Amino acid sequence: MPLKTKPTGKLISFEGSEGSGKSTQMARLASRLQAAGRSVLTTREPGGTEIGEQVRNILVHNLKGDEMCHETELLLFAASRAQHVRELIAPNLTKGVIVLCDRYLDSSTVYQGFARNLAADPVSQINRFAVGNAMPDLTFILDVPTKVSLARIKQRASDLPDRMERENIEFYEKVRAGYLLLAKSLPSRVVVIDGTQSEEAVAKKIWAETQKALKV
Ligand code: TYD
Repeated sequence: MPLKTKPTGKLISFEGSEGSGKSTQMARLASRLQAAGRSVLTTREPGGTEIGEQVRNILVHNLKGDEMCHETELLLFAASRAQHVRELIAPNLTKGVIVLCDRYLDSSTVYQGFARNLAADPVSQINRFAVGNAMPDLTFILDVPTKVSLARIKQRASDLPDRMERENIEFYEKVRAGYLLLAKSLPSRVVVIDGTQSEEAVAKKIWAETQKALKV
């Protein structure tokens, strides 16, 4: 289904490695925007819709997941995203809502394209097909050294690590490098924030950037 209407809301995505603090910061920004009188929707990928959550289960919690080829992985993330955009994100943008999304198309560019080594052109075409015109207005990358991010994952792991969390340190180094490269190529949309600062300091920076970019 093509997306025809020009959205009036804003889409802000949060990106970064596992354990970078993006979920906490997204919740803080949501509260701050609501306090400023804006309507806000928070959501996440993979998931965000019933169909998307089912796809998430295959991707993240599938016990046979180690057999999944990288192409399948890319297409499943894109399938979850296509549904998410049409069922939830685009209708809310049309209503003027500020949508905050925990991971979006840049995760596929970095994890599947850069870290899994899938060719950049098809990844970018599949991303564009999935999102239509629902491109983020602003993207935050929370950057933390890989060792910090892995230590944080270990600390919070209440049960077995999920399929993506079983990857090795080289994979996460690639993810981090991929994000930093992406940010360099898209300076008008993507802001890198040092995620090793205090939670308060990170939130302050995110709020300042949001005000600047969205004029809220
Ligand atoms: P999740 O539990 O949501 O992790 P996090 O809290 O770090 O966001 O798991 C999502 C995993 O899927 C995470 O390892 C990143 C990965 N992912 C991709 O590889 N490609 C994608 O397009 C998306 C959205 C996520």
